[in-house]
Amino acid sequence: MRYAILADVHANLEALQAVMAAVKKAKPDRVIHLGDLVGYGASPVECVDAVRQSKAKGICGNHERYITGVTSIELVSRDDKRATIEYSRDRLRPDQLLDLKCLPLQIATEDGLLFVHGSPRNEDEYLLTYEAYMENIQYLRMTMPDVHVCFFGHTHVPALATATNVESKFEEKPDVAVVQLADSRTYLINPGSVGQPRDRCAKAAWALYDSTEDVVEFRRAAYDVAGAQRRMAAAGFDEKLVQRLGLGQ
Ligand SMILES: [Fe+2]
Repeated sequence: MRYAILADVHANLEALQAVMAAVKKAKPDRVIHLGDLVGYGASPVECVDAVRQSKAKGICGNHERYITGVTSIELVSRDDKRATIEYSRDRLRPDQLLDLKCLPLQIATEDGLLFVHGSPRNEDEYLLTYEAYMENIQYLRMTMPDVHVCFFGHTHVPALATATNVESKFEEKPDVAVVQLADSRTYLINPGSVGQPRDRCAKAAWALYDSTEDVVEFRRAAYDVAGAQRRMAAAGFDEKLVQRLGLGQ
Protein backbone atom coordinates (compact mmCIF):
# COMPACT_ATOMS: atom_id res chain seq x y z
CA MET A 1 0.00 0.00 0.00
CA ARG A 2 1.36 3.43 -0.95
CA TYR A 3 0.34 6.45 1.12
CA ALA A 4 0.69 10.15 0.31
CA ILE A 5 0.89 12.03 3.60
CA LEU A 6 0.18 15.76 3.80
CA ALA A 7 0.38 17.85 6.96
CA ASP A 8 -0.29 21.45 7.94
CA VAL A 9 -1.73 22.78 4.69
CA HIS A 10 -2.73 25.96 6.53
CA ALA A 11 -5.02 27.45 3.87
CA ASN A 12 -2.17 27.83 1.36
CA LEU A 13 -3.87 27.00 -1.94
CA GLU A 14 -0.81 27.60 -4.12
CA ALA A 15 1.25 25.10 -2.08
CA LEU A 16 -1.60 22.58 -1.94
CA GLN A 17 -2.11 22.67 -5.70
CA ALA A 18 1.60 22.03 -6.31
CA VAL A 19 1.61 19.10 -3.89
CA MET A 20 -1.63 17.67 -5.26
CA ALA A 21 -0.13 17.72 -8.77
CA ALA A 22 2.88 15.76 -7.48
CA VAL A 23 0.60 13.37 -5.57
CA LYS A 24 -1.41 12.73 -8.71
CA LYS A 25 1.76 11.73 -10.57
CA ALA A 26 2.83 9.43 -7.72
CA LYS A 27 -0.52 7.55 -7.89
CA PRO A 28 -0.75 6.54 -4.21
CA ASP A 29 -3.43 4.12 -2.98
CA ARG A 30 -4.42 6.44 -0.15
CA VAL A 31 -4.03 10.13 0.69
CA ILE A 32 -3.95 11.11 4.36
CA HIS A 33 -3.80 14.61 5.84
CA LEU A 34 -2.58 15.20 9.37
CA GLY A 35 -4.68 18.23 10.32
CA ASP A 36 -4.34 22.03 10.30
CA LEU A 37 -5.89 22.48 6.88
CA VAL A 38 -6.77 26.05 7.86
CA GLY A 39 -5.30 29.07 9.68
CA TYR A 40 -2.33 31.25 8.62
CA GLY A 41 -3.14 31.25 4.89
CA ALA A 42 -5.72 33.17 2.88
CA SER A 43 -7.55 30.31 1.11
CA PRO A 44 -9.32 28.13 3.69
CA VAL A 45 -12.49 27.55 1.64
CA GLU A 46 -10.59 26.44 -1.46
CA CYS A 47 -8.21 24.20 0.51
CA VAL A 48 -10.93 22.38 2.42
CA ASP A 49 -12.84 21.80 -0.84
CA ALA A 50 -9.69 20.57 -2.64
CA VAL A 51 -8.91 18.07 0.10
CA ARG A 52 -12.50 16.88 0.14
CA GLN A 53 -12.47 16.40 -3.65
CA SER A 54 -9.25 14.40 -3.40
CA LYS A 55 -11.09 11.94 -1.10
CA ALA A 56 -8.22 12.18 1.37
CA LYS A 57 -8.88 10.87 4.85
CA GLY A 58 -7.69 13.14 7.61
CA ILE A 59 -7.42 13.98 11.24
CA CYS A 60 -8.11 17.05 13.32
CA GLY A 61 -5.40 19.62 14.10
CA ASN A 62 -5.44 22.36 16.72
CA HIS A 63 -6.55 24.92 14.12
CA GLU A 64 -9.64 22.83 13.28
CA ARG A 65 -10.46 22.70 16.98
CA TYR A 66 -10.11 26.49 17.29
CA ILE A 67 -12.33 27.31 14.36
CA THR A 68 -15.04 24.82 15.31
CA GLY A 69 -15.06 25.95 18.95
CA VAL A 70 -13.90 22.59 20.36
CA THR A 71 -10.98 24.56 21.85
CA SER A 72 -11.48 28.21 22.81
CA ILE A 73 -9.86 30.60 20.35
CA GLU A 74 -9.09 32.79 23.36
CA LEU A 75 -6.29 30.36 24.20
CA VAL A 76 -4.36 31.60 21.14
CA SER A 77 -2.15 34.22 22.76
CA ARG A 78 -0.67 35.83 19.65
CA ASP A 79 -2.93 38.41 17.98
CA ASP A 80 -1.45 37.88 14.49
CA LYS A 81 -2.07 34.14 14.61
CA ARG A 82 -5.56 34.49 16.11
CA ALA A 83 -6.54 36.90 13.30
CA THR A 84 -5.75 34.26 10.67
CA ILE A 85 -7.76 31.62 12.54
CA GLU A 86 -10.73 33.99 12.78
CA TYR A 87 -10.35 34.72 9.06
CA SER A 88 -10.65 30.97 8.29
CA ARG A 89 -13.53 30.53 10.73
CA ASP A 90 -15.50 33.45 9.29
CA ARG A 91 -15.19 32.28 5.67
CA LEU A 92 -15.76 28.53 5.82
CA ARG A 93 -19.25 27.33 4.88
CA PRO A 94 -21.37 25.51 7.50
CA ASP A 95 -20.89 22.17 5.67
CA GLN A 96 -17.11 22.66 5.74
CA LEU A 97 -17.12 23.52 9.44
CA LEU A 98 -19.17 20.39 10.11
CA ASP A 99 -16.71 18.26 8.10
CA LEU A 100 -13.79 19.65 10.11
CA LYS A 101 -15.60 19.18 13.42
CA CYS A 102 -16.12 15.49 12.61
CA LEU A 103 -12.44 14.74 11.94
CA PRO A 104 -10.98 12.12 14.31
CA LEU A 105 -7.92 12.79 16.50
CA GLN A 106 -6.11 9.72 15.19
CA ILE A 107 -6.30 7.16 12.39
CA ALA A 108 -4.79 3.67 12.77
CA THR A 109 -4.43 1.27 9.83
CA GLU A 110 -4.33 -2.48 9.55
CA ASP A 111 -0.75 -2.37 8.28
CA GLY A 112 0.76 -0.85 11.43
CA LEU A 113 0.47 2.86 10.78
CA LEU A 114 -0.79 5.58 13.09
CA PHE A 115 -1.58 9.13 11.98
CA VAL A 116 -1.73 11.93 14.58
CA HIS A 117 -1.35 15.71 14.62
CA GLY A 118 0.91 16.47 17.60
CA SER A 119 2.25 13.26 19.12
CA PRO A 120 0.91 9.76 19.87
CA ARG A 121 0.30 10.66 23.51
CA ASN A 122 -1.02 14.22 23.10
CA GLU A 123 -2.59 15.92 20.07
CA ASP A 124 -1.20 19.31 21.20
CA GLU A 125 2.39 18.23 21.92
CA TYR A 126 5.18 19.70 19.76
CA LEU A 127 7.85 17.07 19.12
CA LEU A 128 10.93 19.28 19.25
CA THR A 129 13.32 17.67 21.75
CA TYR A 130 15.18 14.37 21.79
CA GLU A 131 13.57 13.52 25.14
CA ALA A 132 10.07 14.10 23.78
CA TYR A 133 10.78 11.80 20.84
CA MET A 134 12.13 9.04 23.09
CA GLU A 135 9.20 9.27 25.50
CA ASN A 136 6.75 8.98 22.62
CA ILE A 137 8.58 6.01 21.08
CA GLN A 138 8.34 4.30 24.48
CA TYR A 139 4.69 5.29 24.73
CA LEU A 140 4.00 3.68 21.36
CA ARG A 141 5.80 0.48 22.30
CA MET A 142 3.95 0.21 25.59
CA THR A 143 0.44 1.17 24.48
CA MET A 144 0.34 0.38 20.74
CA PRO A 145 2.96 -2.31 20.11
CA ASP A 146 1.55 -3.07 16.64
CA VAL A 147 2.38 0.43 15.38
CA HIS A 148 5.45 0.39 13.13
CA VAL A 149 5.31 4.01 11.91
CA CYS A 150 3.50 6.95 13.48
CA PHE A 151 3.20 9.96 11.16
CA PHE A 152 2.72 13.32 12.86
CA GLY A 153 2.70 17.04 12.02
CA HIS A 154 2.29 20.23 14.10
CA THR A 155 5.97 21.33 14.17
CA HIS A 156 6.12 21.95 10.39
CA VAL A 157 9.62 20.41 10.26
CA PRO A 158 10.40 17.14 8.43
CA ALA A 159 11.75 14.55 10.86
CA LEU A 160 12.44 10.85 11.25
CA ALA A 161 13.02 9.35 14.71
CA THR A 162 13.76 5.91 16.11
CA ALA A 163 14.56 4.80 19.67
CA THR A 164 18.21 5.73 19.09
CA ASN A 165 18.28 8.64 16.65
CA VAL A 166 16.42 11.75 15.52
CA GLU A 167 17.04 13.19 12.06
CA SER A 168 15.29 16.49 11.49
CA LYS A 169 17.65 18.62 9.46
CA PHE A 170 17.82 17.13 5.97
CA GLU A 171 20.50 19.79 5.43
CA GLU A 172 20.71 19.69 1.68
CA LYS A 173 16.92 19.70 1.34
CA PRO A 174 16.68 17.69 -1.87
CA ASP A 175 13.35 17.52 -3.65
CA VAL A 176 13.26 13.78 -2.85
CA ALA A 177 15.03 12.13 0.12
CA VAL A 178 14.51 8.36 0.24
CA VAL A 179 14.85 6.43 3.52
CA GLN A 180 14.64 2.64 3.83
CA LEU A 181 13.03 1.72 7.15
CA ALA A 182 13.78 -1.41 9.21
CA ASP A 183 10.94 -3.78 9.96
CA SER A 184 11.91 -4.33 13.61
CA ARG A 185 11.93 -0.66 14.59
CA THR A 186 9.32 1.85 15.70
CA TYR A 187 9.35 5.20 13.87
CA LEU A 188 8.01 8.70 14.36
CA ILE A 189 7.95 10.54 11.03
CA ASN A 190 6.95 14.10 10.19
CA PRO A 191 6.49 14.78 6.45
CA GLY A 192 6.93 18.54 7.00
CA SER A 193 4.32 21.16 6.20
CA VAL A 194 2.59 21.71 2.87
CA GLY A 195 1.62 25.32 3.46
CA GLN A 196 3.83 26.65 6.30
CA PRO A 197 7.25 24.94 6.15
CA ARG A 198 9.54 25.97 9.00
CA ASP A 199 12.83 24.25 8.23
CA ARG A 200 14.26 27.23 6.35
CA CYS A 201 13.13 25.86 3.02
CA ALA A 202 10.17 27.63 1.43
CA LYS A 203 9.14 24.68 -0.77
CA ALA A 204 6.00 22.73 0.16
CA ALA A 205 6.77 19.45 1.98
CA TRP A 206 4.96 16.10 1.93
CA ALA A 207 5.82 12.39 2.08
CA LEU A 208 5.17 9.19 0.19
CA TYR A 209 5.29 5.93 2.16
CA ASP A 210 5.27 2.44 0.65
CA SER A 211 4.23 0.01 3.38
CA THR A 212 5.15 -3.06 1.30
CA GLU A 213 8.71 -1.89 0.59
CA ASP A 214 8.89 -0.02 3.94
CA VAL A 215 10.35 3.04 2.24
CA VAL A 216 9.54 6.68 2.96
CA GLU A 217 10.25 9.51 0.54
CA PHE A 218 10.43 13.06 1.88
CA ARG A 219 9.31 15.23 -1.02
CA ARG A 220 9.51 19.00 -1.71
CA ALA A 221 7.52 20.90 -4.30
CA ALA A 222 8.28 24.39 -5.58
CA TYR A 223 5.20 26.58 -5.74
CA ASP A 224 4.08 30.18 -6.27
CA VAL A 225 5.17 31.52 -2.86
CA ALA A 226 4.82 35.14 -4.00
CA GLY A 227 1.23 34.46 -5.07
CA ALA A 228 0.37 33.00 -1.66
CA GLN A 229 2.04 35.99 0.01
CA ARG A 230 0.04 38.43 -2.12
CA ARG A 231 -3.18 36.77 -1.04
CA MET A 232 -2.13 36.93 2.62
CA ALA A 233 -1.26 40.62 2.31
CA ALA A 234 -4.58 41.33 0.58
CA ALA A 235 -6.36 39.56 3.45
CA GLY A 236 -4.73 42.03 5.83
CA PHE A 237 -2.53 39.55 7.67
CA ASP A 238 0.43 40.70 9.72
CA GLU A 239 3.46 41.52 7.55
CA LYS A 240 5.73 39.22 9.59
CA LEU A 241 3.50 36.24 8.80
CA VAL A 242 3.60 37.11 5.11
CA GLN A 243 7.39 37.41 5.12
CA ARG A 244 8.08 34.21 7.05
CA LEU A 245 6.35 32.13 4.36
CA GLY A 246 9.06 33.16 1.91
CA LEU A 247 11.80 32.26 4.39
CA GLY A 248 10.42 28.87 5.33
CA GLN A 249 10.38 29.67 9.03
FE1 LIG B 1 0.14 23.63 12.08
